[in-house]
Amino acid sequence: MITKCLFPAAGYGTRFLPATKAMPKEMLPVLTKPLIQYGVEEAMEAGITEMAIVTGRGKRAIEDHFDISYELEHQIKGTEKEKYLASIRNIIDVCSFSYTRQIEMKGLGHAILTGETLIGNVPFAVILADDLCVGNKDSGVLAQMAELYKKYRCSIVAIEEIDINDSSKYGIISGKELEDGVYMVADMVEKPSPKDAPSNLAIIGRYILTPDIFEILRHTPSGKNGELQITDALKTQAKNNMVIAYKFKGKRFDCGSVEGFVEATNAFYEIDKKKS
Ligand code: UTP
Repeated sequence: MITKCLFPAAGYGTRFLPATKAMPKEMLPVLTKPLIQYGVEEAMEAGITEMAIVTGRGKRAIEDHFDISYELEHQIKGTEKEKYLASIRNIIDVCSFSYTRQIEMKGLGHAILTGETLIGNVPFAVILADDLCVGNKDSGVLAQMAELYKKYRCSIVAIEEIDINDSSKYGIISGKELEDGVYMVADMVEKPSPKDAPSNLAIIGRYILTPDIFEILRHTPSGKNGELQITDALKTQAKNNMVIAYKFKGKRFDCGSVEGFVEATNAFYEIDKKKS
């Protein structure tokens, strides 16, 4: 039912400088796969095949990654090494990719609004590839959310419990628990100090959004740091309609920070070692 996934990938990735000076943060590899490929695979697992990517200057490597490299294919055809391309080949066969550029980096809300031209008037998923998510044994995080969308038919944000001292890194929600791990959002605050945080439930980089969010974003004034915040738009949507917050089953690695990136690398290495 959700067929499109938007990947805002225009940010500067300053926390990974100098690595991200000429290379997109989304192309940093955890083991042998770039972050954005994990995101695309998670979307595919949720039944999505239309990938829409908001890029910016210096992000061309993302487009090249999701395309055939004839020279390379020719070089390794029939050799031992062909297997290394299997996962990306499958993605290219199954999915379509479309791109648009965010000219000025005016925040996540602005990046999502820039993606309207690729999404149109349908509900869609959003993945921030620097949040690397592993679901539970049954399904990935976005697949869990797509299932929930069938029931509630409204925007959904993924949340996790955080240490309240970290509240200023996240959008924080408050709301009424409707069923186990599912909340109806009453309020949202972007990056509050611990004393102003309405709860310890933090929004992470997975969303399902209904398309009215675009019109709301167009009328939302810039918030913290002069950026157009998706949290402000969702707050309006929660008042007009309903927004659900979902405590996902699984684990998230904050690969936008060096610490989270190292943690993910170690965890994936251990998983890989067990498999082989
Ligand atoms: P972040 O703030 O985590 O990413 O934005 P960043 O700005 O690239 O990283 P730092 O803080 O400088 O290290 C969350 C997500 O939103 C996208 C980013 O690419 C990232 O996936 N984003 C953010 C945009 O696409 N455009 C923006 O204007 C801002």
